[in-house]
Amino acid sequence: MGLNYPSRSEQIQIAIDGPSGAGKTSLAAHLSTTFRLTHIDSGALYRAYCLVALRQNISLLDGEALTNLVASVRVAIGSIVTIDGEDVTRAIRTSEVSSATSVLATCPAFRYQMVGKLRELAAQGGIVMEGRDIGTVVLPAADVKIYLDATVEERVRRRRLQQQALILHTNIEAEIRERDLRDQTRTTDPLRVPAGATVVDSTDLTLDQVATLVSRKIYTYLRRTYRFRNSGQ
Ligand code: DC
Repeated sequence: MGLNYPSRSEQIQIAIDGPSGAGKTSLAAHLSTTFRLTHIDSGALYRAYCLVALRQNISLLDGEALTNLVASVRVAIGSIVTIDGEDVTRAIRTSEVSSATSVLATCPAFRYQMVGKLRELAAQGGIVMEGRDIGTVVLPAADVKIYLDATVEERVRRRRLQQQALILHTNIEAEIRERDLRDQTRTTDPLRVPAGATVVDSTDLTLDQVATLVSRKIYTYLRRTYRFRNSGQ
């Protein structure tokens, strides 16, 4: 109260990392509405390029071929995801693409390309970006860093609920465990708690509770920043 935040909360950068199914997307969407931020789902970028690689039969570990692919295909992520203008919003959410993307995400040359693209997207400021390496690698100087976690059992339960709505597929627990393992053990930029991040265990929390907790952190950051600015320091 009493603080007049500029539109889009000015230049703030918020990084949300964590394993599959922890609730990163719901949290990021919530924060983007509350603070008028652009929501950047980095996983969607990884998935879209993976879909192209699968369609073109490109090896998910061939760094050179993947680098050429990234240079030649235009992916746009937002409320819809497009590949050279084609709407692939749903096509990138199949279990085949989920699984393949976690393999592709182990390729160092491909990750390098993604980090560059994500930094470009973040440069506009006023963003909340979610992924696996946002607070550690893409935006290590992000203003607010959150590591959102939940037990495997709870993440499986949530995914089941989602998938019932989408009727996409089957062995969710095996898939989540497999992706956790790949995301956490890959050599390049594995999933880690970023330095300075607030760890939030959402296992027993509702989305509203998580959002309230994280929003408090953001308000604290904004107040501190604007107080300093207003007092000329
Ligand atoms: O967030 P998601 O489930 O849509 O991500 C799909 C895969 O992409 C996931 O297995 C990990 C990988 N990924 C990554 O390694 N780094 C990111 N910043 C985003 C996603």
